[in-house]
Amino acid sequence: MFPTDPKTDKASDVQSLREALVEALERPGHHISPIWFYDQRGSELFEEITKLPSYYLARTEIKILDDNLEEISKVIGADRLVIELGSGSSRKTLRLLEALEQPAGYVPVDISADYLLQAAASLSKKLPSLPVMALVADFTTMFSLPLSLPPHRSRLGFFPGSTVGNLEVAEVLSLLTHCHKVFGDEAAFLIGVDLDKSPEVLISAYDDPEGVTAEFNRNLLKRINRELGLEIDPRAFAHQARYFTDPARIEMHLVAIIDQKFEISGRTYTLAAGESFHTETSHKYTIESFSQLAEKADWEVTQYWCDTKKRFAVLLLEAAACR
Ligand code: AVJ
Repeated sequence: MFPTDPKTDKASDVQSLREALVEALERPGHHISPIWFYDQRGSELFEEITKLPSYYLARTEIKILDDNLEEISKVIGADRLVIELGSGSSRKTLRLLEALEQPAGYVPVDISADYLLQAAASLSKKLPSLPVMALVADFTTMFSLPLSLPPHRSRLGFFPGSTVGNLEVAEVLSLLTHCHKVFGDEAAFLIGVDLDKSPEVLISAYDDPEGVTAEFNRNLLKRINRELGLEIDPRAFAHQARYFTDPARIEMHLVAIIDQKFEISGRTYTLAAGESFHTETSHKYTIESFSQLAEKADWEVTQYWCDTKKRFAVLLLEAAACR
């Protein structure tokens, strides 16, 4: 495996978190990136979310992959270098790598070094003959691949989990454009996308009756308290999931129930009762809307697989020859 540069491990950098919080407090919209959810406890809570009856996303995607692995591996073919964006635990990837015909190597890309190296090592153990090169990088920036790669026929991007939904439409465009460049003209890209559906179903996925997602959202405040030495009362914030159209999306908010004051580096910031931190956006697509977006970045959706309820889709993009 490749040595990694801890300086690029932004998601565990206290100074970056402080800046993100100050920006959120200073700017209208009070937006703070969802990357900050995933400290140790946050990652555990997300795992719990994936087991909730109302959070259909993860299990639906796994079933789509499992049910169609044979066909997927056939269209993808042999000797591909698999590059996974936001690899996390690499759980879905093991299945894919096992099903593929002679994958040439695996490059998991993740912003969180700890988790990445752990997952890469455990995957290496299960597939000892597969070259694995972990890459610590923020895939929303212009990342580049490790310089020395095992020989391969072509590249396959893998971006499961509807993580693409966390990006703004313009960010998806620039990511797909960049990946076309980095992966090359023979590349394919397998992307998991949550489909637009009734607001009731979506809201209960992001505001479960068990309260796990609320806990996940409030955990951000606990992390801020711990890492930045603040004393925010997490119970003074209400968890909210809001559905919007144009573009279709769920937004998660932490709404201040009473006026809030924050002392950060000698300055005072406020959030009035009713105002909220906007902690995450999860965009919802249709096959058509995602295909149109892909096309703008010179990718063509050549195939897709859905569950029977059309809740979630795994899309196969192929690099269209550069125009
Ligand atoms: C990991 C980004 C796919 O947006 O559904 C789950 C995170 N947030 N519940 C999503 C999440 C609230 C999740 N992704």
